[in-house]
Amino acid sequence: MIVSPSLLSADFGNLDRDVEMLNRSEADWYHLDVMDGVFVPNISFGFPVIDAIARKAEKPLDVHLMIVNPDKFVSQVRDTGAAIMNVHQEACIHLHRTVQSIKAAGMKAAVTLNPATPIITLQDIITELDMVLLMSVNPGFGGQKFIPQILDKTRRLKAMIDESGSKALIEIDGGVNLTTAPLLAEAGADALVAGSAVFGAESPENVISQLKSL
Ligand code: DX5
Ligand code: ZN
Repeated sequence: MIVSPSLLSADFGNLDRDVEMLNRSEADWYHLDVMDGVFVPNISFGFPVIDAIARKAEKPLDVHLMIVNPDKFVSQVRDTGAAIMNVHQEACIHLHRTVQSIKAAGMKAAVTLNPATPIITLQDIITELDMVLLMSVNPGFGGQKFIPQILDKTRRLKAMIDESGSKALIEIDGGVNLTTAPLLAEAGADALVAGSAVFGAESPENVISQLKSL
């Protein structure tokens, strides 16, 4: 399993310490949640904080933009050194163009679906995508409860990817913990984002290691 801890639940007064912990851990990527207070009812952090994390991070950055018009920021995300740019399907009117511009900038293109957005909305672009991120909570906050219907959605997405010949990975974000993660692994998830389950644990490195072994 690919493990992408979400820094939204890190200690922002000790970011260097938390990034160094992730460097030592078995985490694969660092998941960075950008919120604009418009697309989601919360504001998190922007480019100066991503740059500070990038200076310390020794693994790829998985940037999840919960913002309107994410296509405006492709080159700024690229300039942080991010490996993966996640945009919401609901925020992109010209999704095909946005995906092409992410790839042209040298990043992996990932498209995120809110819990109520059907996977069929990606059918005609699935072969172009490097990853699909399924939200298993409504985006905006860490520490929310996993929406169980996402297990079936993951299975249906996996079937759609396999039937199309797409190489897209499936990433899941929201309410991932040591109880929900094995169910997601069984349903076909390739990558798991976990915020509160990692940073709220007595031993974050141990939780990462357990997720990694799924
Ligand atoms: C929520 C963010 C998540 C968040 C997950 O809108 O996209 O990445 O950090 O937090 P947990 O793992 O606590 O549900
Ligand atoms: Zn996220």
